[in-house]
Amino acid sequence: MGYRVAVVGATGNVGHEMLKILAEREFPIDEIVALASRRSLGTEVSFGDKTLKCKDLEQFDFTGWDIALFAIGSDATKIYAPKAAATGCVVIDNSSLYRYDPDVPLVVPEVNAEAVDGYTKKNIIANPNCSTAQMVVALKPLHDRARIKRVVVSTYQSVSGTGKEGIDELWNQTKGVFVPGQEVAPSVYPKQIAFNVIPHIDVFLDDGSTKEEWKMVAETKKIMDPKIKVTATCVRVPVFVGHSEAINIEFEDFLAEDEARDILREAPGILVVDKREDGGYVTPIESVGEYATYISRIRQDSTIENGINLWCVSDNLRKGAALNAVQVAEVLGQRCLKKG
Ligand SMILES: NC(=O)c1ccc[n+]([C@@H]2O[C@H](COP(=O)([O-])OP(=O)(O)OC[C@H]3O[C@@H](n4cnc5c(N)ncnc54)[C@H](OP(=O)(O)O)[C@@H]3O)[C@@H](O)[C@H]2O)c1
Repeated sequence: MGYRVAVVGATGNVGHEMLKILAEREFPIDEIVALASRRSLGTEVSFGDKTLKCKDLEQFDFTGWDIALFAIGSDATKIYAPKAAATGCVVIDNSSLYRYDPDVPLVVPEVNAEAVDGYTKKNIIANPNCSTAQMVVALKPLHDRARIKRVVVSTYQSVSGTGKEGIDELWNQTKGVFVPGQEVAPSVYPKQIAFNVIPHIDVFLDDGSTKEEWKMVAETKKIMDPKIKVTATCVRVPVFVGHSEAINIEFEDFLAEDEARDILREAPGILVVDKREDGGYVTPIESVGEYATYISRIRQDSTIENGINLWCVSDNLRKGAALNAVQVAEVLGQRCLKKG
């Protein structure tokens, strides 16, 4: 016996990936439904070799459904996730709405799979921000060996992190640069994203940081260890899919770069590609459609006593959202619901 699974936001980038990954990983499904807004009623989406017709979320009754994978914005999530959860359906949510709620577990299965058990308080489990998810996958095995004190991270985040509109803006602006009369003014982003980089993601906070940067700090503490200090600079770059991060890590104990490389090679969810030669590292384009979080450029930071630098790349629609959500559903099934 498998599960009855609802994919909410099935017409979106993350929704598409969730449907693909559920099929790829042969998640035990008895029945699946694709939900989106009324605008998308009847829109066809693929699930393996099947085609599903989208239903209207507003009209949908979650009674009798086991798991709902949500990938819609926070505003719509606020309306529909509690409704779904109240019927007994377990919501796994990609928005930021519940991530900091003490009654909602925030889970990256490679790091804190056991936290899933806490879903019972609200029937909701939160997925972290895309840049946090890949970073904690890289940090956890190193923290277990040498205890991380502080992390300095700079991100290079793709436009798919902003949803369909971000992708369209980069595409249209890029074309507009070459076609006279078709220039596209910034609307999704505060400045031109084509052939540019923007050191600003989400809203500004009082201390001069942005909400995206704050998320990396708060979520790393919740998922891994509240003692870890994180300082982040989040930057939007003209890449369609795949987030990259330059990460500097300071440890309590000394960790040699060779041992760090060996630890990361053995760690779940990670592929190390680290040849000190031209092209001997991973770039975001190579991460597209993959499950792995790739680690390259592992090297000692000789300016501090116990420091390591590394480069971390992953498909933000997958490990940063859809894959993580499906992995959480797998853990939930194995540890708690026990069907399939
Ligand atoms: N992209 C990433 O890297 C990433 C990573 C982590 C988390 N997330 C989060 O995942 C969520 C979805 O992101 P995305 O990139 O997939 O966005 P997207 O491509 O813009 O898709 C948005 C989806 O939400 C649906 N939706 C919007 N308002 C709705 C409403 N009122 N009722 C029902 N459905 C509604 C849309 O349906 P229609 O097509 O019918 O409008 C569409 O299916 C967001 O909360 C985002 O913050 C994204």
